[in-house]
Amino acid sequence: MVRLRLVVLLAMLTTCLADRLDVLESQMKNVYAARAHVQNETIELERKVEELIGRANEVVGIIDEQRSTIEDVHISWSDWSAWSDCSPSCGKGKRSRYRSCDVPPPFTDGVCIGNDTDTEECVIQECPVDCYDLHKQNQGLPSGVYNVSLWRSHVGIRVFCDMTTASGGWTVIQHRYDGSVDFYRNLYEYTHGFGDVSTEFWLGLSYIKEIADKGNTTIRMEVSAADGSSAYEEWPEFRLGVAPTYTLHVGGRGTGTAGDLRRYFERYNNGSDFTAKGSFCGDKVHGGWWYRGCTYINLNGEYVTPGTRSGYGSGWGGMVYPSFRYKSSLKTSTIMIKRND
Ligand SMILES: *[C@@H]1O[C@H](CO)[C@@H](O)[C@H](O)[C@H]1NC(C)=O
Ligand SMILES: *[C@@H]1O[C@H](CO)[C@@H](O)[C@H](O)[C@H]1NC(C)=O
Ligand SMILES: *[C@@H]1O[C@H](CO)[C@@H](O)[C@H](O)[C@H]1NC(C)=O
Ligand SMILES: *[C@@H]1O[C@H](CO)[C@@H](O)[C@H](O)[C@H]1NC(C)=O
Ligand SMILES: *[C@@H]1O[C@H](CO)[C@@H](O)[C@H](O)[C@H]1NC(C)=O
Repeated sequence: MVRLRLVVLLAMLTTCLADRLDVLESQMKNVYAARAHVQNETIELERKVEELIGRANEVVGIIDEQRSTIEDVHISWSDWSAWSDCSPSCGKGKRSRYRSCDVPPPFTDGVCIGNDTDTEECVIQECPVDCYDLHKQNQGLPSGVYNVSLWRSHVGIRVFCDMTTASGGWTVIQHRYDGSVDFYRNLYEYTHGFGDVSTEFWLGLSYIKEIADKGNTTIRMEVSAADGSSAYEEWPEFRLGVAPTYTLHVGGRGTGTAGDLRRYFERYNNGSDFTAKGSFCGDKVHGGWWYRGCTYINLNGEYVTPGTRSGYGSGWGGMVYPSFRYKSSLKTSTIMIKRND
């Protein structure tokens, strides 16, 4: 009885186990299938990764190859050019130098790292303030037109320098030789200057004053007559008063070959204000000067045929220097100034 029950139980157990085994077996099969699938995918992925690594290496190889080619053909900067001149030509300025990226054929382009332009500040020398400075810096400079930078205002102007007369270094403030420039001008024009320093001109009272204010200055007048004979006269301690009258001051007697026995300049012009066209004397003797009584030296008067007399002011209206040729109008006139420190 017990035995039978056991058999039945066993049979049931066996059936049950078999069923469970079937289930397990089918589950195991699924697991294996999934694993195989994963393995397949993994292999596939590995393959792809390897392929990518291969390609990457290929690219690196190409880059290396290119780089070595570039280095081989020496794409590089040329040498720097020489520095350009310091601009402006004196004082603080700027200068530059240049280079180019050299790409030898057959290559048509390449890149150099850096800037092809290099700029820096430069200081050549102190700017000359007048012809005296220029002459001191270089005794060999010829007479001619130069740039100077006025010492107080730092205004740059063109001046004509006489580098030979009386040991040179003279800043010319007036020059006439053919009458091509009209000197019958108003005070404004006499203040700021007119004409061209390379031909006939009046430098301008404001500039003349500033140049003379730099130091103890001598004024020199050079005149020549129709026949070509010439003379000069100099006065020390030349300076001008403030604008707008620019009163003349000279500190001593004239010396030179032009005479001036009656001391016209010291007695009639020293202490006088500058007047010009539009004033009584300016109109009467047709010019601009430190007139008093409208006489006598009148180097800015009318330019007429040398040796003849002007029709203005009973003859005083010409370009005259009385102690040299009285009222006979002159051929050339040059007025210049120079410091003597
Ligand atoms: C695994 O890949 C092999 C051949 O590449 C294929 O025969 C097999 O059926 C794949 N197995 C699965 C589960 O995708
Ligand atoms: C190159 O130099 C010039 C002049 O010095 C400057 O103006 C410019 O900005 C610089 N360029 C670069 C890319 O540095
Ligand atoms: C004077 O300076 C100007 C520019 O300011 C320049 O063009 C000229 O060449 C200079 N002249 C002389 C004689 O140096
Ligand atoms: C200016 O210089 C002259 C010499 O050229 C001299 O006789 C005079 O005393 C000086 N004047 C002054 C104020 O220094
Ligand atoms: C010019 O005038 C001033 C005063 O205005 C005087 O001191 C000076 O001595 C005068 N010059 C001459 C050369 O007479």
